[in-house]
Amino acid sequence: MDLSGRTALVTGSNRGIGRALSEALAREPLGLLLCGMRNPGGFEPIATGASGAREVKAVRIDLSSREAIEQCCAELGPDLARIDLLVNNAGLVTGGLLEEQDLEEVYAMFQANLLGLVQLTRAVLPGMLERRSGKVVNNASISGYAFFPAASTYAASKAGVVAFTESLRRELKGTGVSTLHLATGGVDTDMLDATEETYGRYLDTSRWDKVPASEWAGKVIAAIREDRTVLGPGGKTAVAKLASRGPAFLLDRISDRMFSREPRA
Ligand SMILES: NC(=O)c1ccc[n+]([C@@H]2O[C@H](COP(=O)([O-])OP(=O)(O)OC[C@H]3O[C@@H](n4cnc5c(N)ncnc54)[C@H](OP(=O)(O)O)[C@@H]3O)[C@@H](O)[C@H]2O)c1
Repeated sequence: MDLSGRTALVTGSNRGIGRALSEALAREPLGLLLCGMRNPGGFEPIATGASGAREVKAVRIDLSSREAIEQCCAELGPDLARIDLLVNNAGLVTGGLLEEQDLEEVYAMFQANLLGLVQLTRAVLPGMLERRSGKVVNNASISGYAFFPAASTYAASKAGVVAFTESLRRELKGTGVSTLHLATGGVDTDMLDATEETYGRYLDTSRWDKVPASEWAGKVIAAIREDRTVLGPGGKTAVAKLASRGPAFLLDRISDRMFSREPRA
């Protein structure tokens, strides 16, 4: 996708991968970059540079409920129909043994990771279809491929994102609108710290890959430019993605080495 003059919206733009993606996109020759976040009042301005985005605007995107999303879309006004590049990045994680997971957290996670992403995509798509041009980028996870224990609900939400995006990709063939899903691996953010803490009671997370968010953002921008349909992780995480497409015993072996139902010391 040629980004010149385009309008982009990134959700969860205030921190982590979303912030890094927004900073990288702001350096591209976009017309308008909409930085979506729950509290746009706290937006820390982003530098664009001489050849960067013409305008950067913080907007409210709260994926916590169907009504909140409807309200946020209404607040976007005419900008909603102008979005050429939608980056569904915002997300939540919860984990641990299923019987110990907090049900409120599980519902909030499915809402943000999957239902909210579907609803926002559905709201943005008509403008793209009318212009016969656009791209939807969905931040899934390696967990959407490699289904490790202590991650059952998170993995289910992210596998849902992979399934949704791939189904939509086929549905959109010939419309000028394309998709990209990110099989994101370990990226150094608050969420990775939280994940290590949540899963770490039962899973050895000590050898996880951890790349800077800015490095991952650079790869995402390249994948958008090259119109790739999936972006996978590097390092050891790439092996897990590969193994997930093979017979189940491959991941079972890795899982047996990493996981114990008894809390780790
Ligand atoms: N970091 C990794 O290693 C990794 C690996 C695989 C996939 N991912 C995926 O990458 C995406 C970004 O993760 P991250 O690591 O950057 O996490 P992060 O640092 O925890 O940031 C999460 C972002 O999502 C926003 N968010 C959460 N719930 C929301 C809701 N209901 N409505 C609107 N915004 C909401 C947060 O907003 P607030 O600041 O308001 O909470 C924040 O901006 C997520 O989808 C995550 O699942 C991350």
